[in-house]
Amino acid sequence: MSHETFHYRNLDEIRQKARDLGAFVPLCDTTSALFRPLELAGRTVANRIAFQPMEGTDGTGAGAPGPLTWRRYERFAQAGPGLIWFEAVATVPEGRASAHQLYLTEENVGEFARLVDHMRELCLKRHGYVPVIIMQATNSGRYSKPKGVPEPLVAYRCPPLEEGLDQPFRVLTDEELQRYEAAFETTARLCRTAGFDGMDIKCCHRYLACELLSAYTRPGPYGGSYENRTRFLKNAYRAAGAAVSGDFFLTSRLNVYDGFAYPYGFGVHPGSLDVDLTEPVRLIRELKEEFGIPLINVTMGNPYKNPHVNRPYDHGNYIPDEHPLTGVGRMMGAVAEIQRQLPDLPVLGSAFSYLRQFSPCLAAGMVSGGHCALAGFGRMAFADPDFVDQCRKGILDPAAVCVACGGCAALLRAGRPAGCIVRDREVYHL
Ligand SMILES: Cc1cc2nc3c(=O)[nH]c(=O)nc-3n(C[C@H](O)[C@H](O)[C@H](O)COP(=O)(O)O)c2cc1C
Repeated sequence: MSHETFHYRNLDEIRQKARDLGAFVPLCDTTSALFRPLELAGRTVANRIAFQPMEGTDGTGAGAPGPLTWRRYERFAQAGPGLIWFEAVATVPEGRASAHQLYLTEENVGEFARLVDHMRELCLKRHGYVPVIIMQATNSGRYSKPKGVPEPLVAYRCPPLEEGLDQPFRVLTDEELQRYEAAFETTARLCRTAGFDGMDIKCCHRYLACELLSAYTRPGPYGGSYENRTRFLKNAYRAAGAAVSGDFFLTSRLNVYDGFAYPYGFGVHPGSLDVDLTEPVRLIRELKEEFGIPLINVTMGNPYKNPHVNRPYDHGNYIPDEHPLTGVGRMMGAVAEIQRQLPDLPVLGSAFSYLRQFSPCLAAGMVSGGHCALAGFGRMAFADPDFVDQCRKGILDPAAVCVACGGCAALLRAGRPAGCIVRDREVYHL
């Protein structure tokens, strides 16, 4: 069924459409399941609502949080989600996605520490608990733009991601990859010093570690076999692990499906574009057994080439050839299948915002059905972080929700501070 925009007036209309599409969109009329605490890595997560990492492109030139970064995280902390997954923070200067992407260094770690402390204080004061705060550590790889123009660091030449782009693509050497693995040690040490609960070795959306998972065509120790394609991620864990002590933990936000045909996509069935979770499940199990990850954040797609897979939308740069609820169902189905195969590992699901005022009912449906432990919201947190409290009532105020218009993503792509152009328009506009 082809693309159409959001027009549902109640849960039954969504249920009917999902049935027609054969999409897995479990909805629950009540949302109490979202307000049961979860034990995680020696902490209590106060509720099942997580804020997903949302890059703001509003750091200082040196990579420290800027005034708008502070504003975003103050709003997030005051809203009271159980878990805040702090946005992508660069591990090396040349791997920054923009000249204003956050970049954690010896010089600015104190500023990150002040922000993390402040977030805990704000949430504690208003809600009586502190959020678990995980920092996403990244190397933007192919999407590096440290001076505002593309300077791609690519794992292998990937035609589906390069067609129509007139820019040089230099494939990283094995030695460069080793240096980038090692950089995760410094970042992990600084991340712990800054007071985060844990660090995410980012492996999603086709940034460097994620791109390597599909490096079937790369020769040498980082390409071809499963062992080789996962080498960078595991070595990054080993490097970061050397800096880990106490109850600080490592985890990942992982693409379990890229949406590009073999040999250019991870989690994709060879010979079709279907989801194939064989390797993703194996990898998550190994990360749990070898590195003790206490949870996994599951996501999909590529925000540049197939953003509808990553975040189903009404309006974007192109009209997808699938219905948005098919995209929601693909994500929810994969999250649920991973949680089913790994019942002892809390799974954090992605892409709940498309359902707008009904998204708490999807989150509750996923959590109460045991399909995931935590429901992660991205765009909705930009639109109105205070939706967390309103989730108690079930359906949200339609006048305050994300409308999946793509405005925040357009700001990000333009290298401008990102936020909601509809609900926070005094601050953000295209
Ligand atoms: C403006 C913008 C910034 C984002 N920044 C990040 C990021 O730093 N790290 C990340 O893993 N995902 C990032 N994402 C993806 C979101 O975390 C999320 O997966 C996506 O928006 C789908 O979830 P939603 O439907 O709740 O918005 C970003 C998305 C947008 C639109």
